[in-house]
Amino acid sequence: MSNFKYGFPLNFNTWLDSNAHRLKPPVNNQQIWQDSDYMVTVVGGPNQRTDFHDNPVEEFFYQFKGNAYLNIWDDGRYDRIDLREGDIFLMAPHVLHSPQRPEEGSLCLVLERMRPENEPDAIQWSCAACGNLIKRYEMNLKSIVADLPPVYEQFYATSDEERRCSQCGEIHPSRDAQTWHRTLKATETR
Ligand SMILES: [Fe+2]
Repeated sequence: MSNFKYGFPLNFNTWLDSNAHRLKPPVNNQQIWQDSDYMVTVVGGPNQRTDFHDNPVEEFFYQFKGNAYLNIWDDGRYDRIDLREGDIFLMAPHVLHSPQRPEEGSLCLVLERMRPENEPDAIQWSCAACGNLIKRYEMNLKSIVADLPPVYEQFYATSDEERRCSQCGEIHPSRDAQTWHRTLKATETR
């Protein structure tokens, strides 16, 4: 008998129905299989964030319900990649991205593999007004659930002065995503 470590095929719609409560705030995501080489996750909206993720491995997106987008930070410059309903997208490693899911009930299937040894992930925050890097934290990611929250808490515990942009003086609003996005929008239209 073969080793069906991750169980038999499951019906995706049934899985979505029974996990619907986790795919909305405040959790917004759920990994389907545990301890697997492929980390297969479903991510739901609404959710807006200010952090950018530096992933050492490729990331696959299938935006199967509603629309979302990725803010991109490229060495101080911002860009935007739209994920419209039905889009699939394979993102190369080390593209600094910040998924934005403004639509309630939107759903995206995300696939990435476990990290090779000594290839750290990083989470970073940057200035919405000028693009300057504010803080960057690197970590050897073994578990999305266990390894990421301490990084967010570390950033949220910083003082306003520690979050002041060394280039333009703007204070990063920490976890206040609305303020950060408003500043980014004002910067874009200037
Ligand atoms: Fe700045």
